[in-house]
Amino acid sequence: MTASPNLHTRIAGTGSHLPPRRLTNADLVAQLAARGIETSDDWIVERTGIRARHFAGDGVAASDLAAAAARQALEAAGCRAEDVDLIIVATSTPDMVFPSTACIVQAKLGAHGCPAFDVQAVCSGFVYALTVADALIRTGSARRALVIGSEVFSRILDFDDRTTCVLFGDGAGAVVLEAADAPGLLATDLHADGRHVGILCVPGTVSGGRVLGDPLLKMDGQAVFKLAVGVLDSAARTVLAKAGRRAEDVDWLIPHQANIRIMQSAARKLRLPPERLVVTVDQHGNTSAASIPLALDAAVRDGRIRRGDTLLLEGVGGGFTWGAVLLDY
Ligand code: ACO
Repeated sequence: MTASPNLHTRIAGTGSHLPPRRLTNADLVAQLAARGIETSDDWIVERTGIRARHFAGDGVAASDLAAAAARQALEAAGCRAEDVDLIIVATSTPDMVFPSTACIVQAKLGAHGCPAFDVQAVCSGFVYALTVADALIRTGSARRALVIGSEVFSRILDFDDRTTCVLFGDGAGAVVLEAADAPGLLATDLHADGRHVGILCVPGTVSGGRVLGDPLLKMDGQAVFKLAVGVLDSAARTVLAKAGRRAEDVDWLIPHQANIRIMQSAARKLRLPPERLVVTVDQHGNTSAASIPLALDAAVRDGRIRRGDTLLLEGVGGGFTWGAVLLDY
């Protein structure tokens, strides 16, 4: 299948969902203190920019958050679930080993028959999923796609490890993509380097009916930081070059919301003023594959992002994986 030069992909609508249970840093500090773990609001804010995060309630799965975000995106796009002919969910915290969370979301939305699958690229998952959906639309395999990032990272956090448990939150964001005569998505760029598997991973697995290894998140924060700032800049420059645009053409930079310092560095390297950076990490924490569509939807709904604006989305995460998408909204 080859992509038609006349077939493009545009975002028709966005949506998001945060579970209602919100923990401020003060709430989390108190909970951790009860376990004998010492941290502080000052440390968390100064090193990460995070002030609050949402955690899903017991029994709430990634598919529940995903379906809620998807319904909002469908409503914003003015279409119904049965109008969608492709569903991709980016997640590292799926409901089950199998089937995919995308199949479960499809059933929850009441849409049957269209292809549905998960993309696993950790915090780069949404950028990966967007790129795959764009390719399927431009080759004529799909006309309207739901692309969702959804995570319940609270389930894989080690609450005895203060270096990681303060960083993450749960949530979901979604977009409806449609085939269009004009872009839309201007350029995409994806990468992975499996030599860095060990710096950010959940090393456990299920085998012989048991969990083998440790099923909780491990991270070498400084190694992640150093890699992240370099690869984000290179992916950003690649999509700008592919699309023949300059950094100053970017109206909104929407990086993966891992850490305010990484995000500010990404903006500085592109010489973008801080006010063009969409920041939700302060209120959501790091929601992995959900962070970019959550930030996108927040800025669409509060009126900052308008039709015609140029958006630069950048993801980076475990794998190591990274990538960027440049688009006209
Ligand atoms: N509260 C209080 N003190 C803490 C905490 C905490 N929650 N966590 C660590 N510390 C202490 C450490 O024990 C250490 O103490 P010591 O000096 O007495 O040994 C001190 O703080 C400094 O620890 P570092 O790990 O050196 O802290 P650093 O400045 O590197 O910040 C952080 C840690 C925020 C994780 C940083 O490395 C970072 O931003 N890394 C980027 C990775 C990231 O954001 N990951 C998110 C997921 S990955 C992704 O989404 C791409």
